[in-house]
This record gives sequence, structure tokens and C-alpha cells, in this order.
Amino acid sequence: MKKALTWLLTILLLVCVLPAFAAEQEIDKETGLVIATGFEQVKKTCTVCHSPMLITQNKADRDGWLEMIRWMQAKQGLWQLDADTENAILDYLEILQPEPALFPADPFARAKIIELIRHLELDVELVARRALPAAFFGAQISEELKDATQTDLARGMAAVARLIKCDPFIGGAEFTAADLYAFYTFGLARAIVAKVFDADLLEGHGELGELLDRLSERPCIHKVEAAKAA
Ligand code: HEC
Repeated sequence: MKKALTWLLTILLLVCVLPAFAAEQEIDKETGLVIATGFEQVKKTCTVCHSPMLITQNKADRDGWLEMIRWMQAKQGLWQLDADTENAILDYLEILQPEPALFPADPFARAKIIELIRHLELDVELVARRALPAAFFGAQISEELKDATQTDLARGMAAVARLIKCDPFIGGAEFTAADLYAFYTFGLARAIVAKVFDADLLEGHGELGELLDRLSERPCIHKVEAAKAA
């Protein structure tokens, strides 16, 4: 699961462009860039070859921005930047175009989201995975394992149903990593249950079905799905 989650989040961070929220910031009319420390260097260096939109549409952490700069230097003819300029640009990008926040800033809310992900993993994903070889790889499954899986899954779904909010997102008002994880977990578990038990895992959990429908409309999820299919 660690791997799956890391993979999912990596794809999300790479492809998911959450709208930049810059309500009270002063914007440069010419470039659309927020005017802040480092702006001059960014404008001078980073709008020479392409539209500043490429910058405002991307989000990454400092390492991610550095990687893009190194890639442009290796492949796109971006010249060597002196250390001061490079640092000023990275400071600017790190603060104004940060990676999308997938966890709430408040520590308590954050812990709740992590707990929810943990429950999705333990109560649903790992239970459903016991039947994965039978669902997708033609393996035999004993009646005993089948029964146990079904019972534990029903229990797990009930446990998870008590924790989720779906108001409108799984952990509450904000879109978080738990929504991504839920999309992945229920997608996988639902497919397994359909194959092995000829049933709908979400039967009786209408609010979850609606949540997944809402999530599937989000551009983030589209991009994750497209990357998965590629
Ligand atoms: C010498 C020309 C040049 C300069 C200067 C330049 N870039 Fe680029 N950059 C490119 C080219 C070419 C591409 C690829 C454009 C495309 O795919 O349409 C690119 C792509 C990008 C992308 C998109 C990367 C992706 O993964 O899709 C970002 C973000 C970006 N540049 C940011 C910057 C920043 C920040 C700076 C300033 C440090 C900068 N660029 C300066 C040539 C340059």
C-alpha cells in the first residue's frame, strides 16, 4: 500500500494542477505572475522562451522546481544560472507555486485524515486484496476464505462508513489525500467484489457512491486515471 499510495500521490503531484489561489496578492499585468520577492528574477529569466502560464500552471516543491530547471538546462537550452539568481527563483517558486496541499494545515485535522487513510487501507483495501488473485489471476479461492473475506469486508465498510463525512469530501470540507486514496481503494475493492462475489461493495453506502461520482469528475482524478491508462 505504501508503494501504491506513493505512486498515486506522485502522479497527482506531477499532473494535478490545482487552481492557484492568490486573492490578495498583487499580480503583474504583463505576465500574470504574483509580485513578491524573486519576481524580477523570475520574470527576467523564465519568460524568455515561453509563456509565464507554464509557470503559473505548475506546482511543485523546491526539488521539483529544481528538477524542471535542470531538465530545461539539459534539454531546452536554458542557460546556467548563477547561484543567487537560481536561489531567488527557487524561493519564489517554492512559496508561490507550491505543491498542492493534500493534507489540512491544522495538525488535528491532518491526523484525522491520516487515520481515515489508515482505516481505508486496513478495513477495506487489505481485506479485499485477499480475493485479488481469484478476481484477476484465475486463482482458486476456498469457501472459507471467501466467507471470511465477505464478513470482514462488510465489517470494514461499516467501520469506514462511521468515519467518513462526504460533506462534500470524504474527510469534510476540503479535498485531501483521503479522497484520492478512497477513489483508489473503493475502485479496486469494488472490482474484486464484483468479480468474486457478484455483488456491489457500495450497496447500502449510497453516500460513498455519490462521493466517487463527484470525485471522478474532478480534473485531478481524470489526470490520474489517464496516467494510469498510459
Ligand atoms: C531557453 C529557453 C527557456 C527558458 C529561459 C526557460 N524555459 Fe521553461 N521550458 C522551455 C521549453 C522549450 C519547455 C518545453 C515547452 C513545452 O513543452 O511546450 C519548457 C517548459 C517549462 C515548464 C513545463 C515543464 C513541464 O513539465 O511541463 C515549466 C514549468 C517551465 N518551463 C518553467 C520555467 C522556469 C521556472 C524558468 C526560469 C527558471 C524557465 N522555464 C525558463 C524553455 C525555457
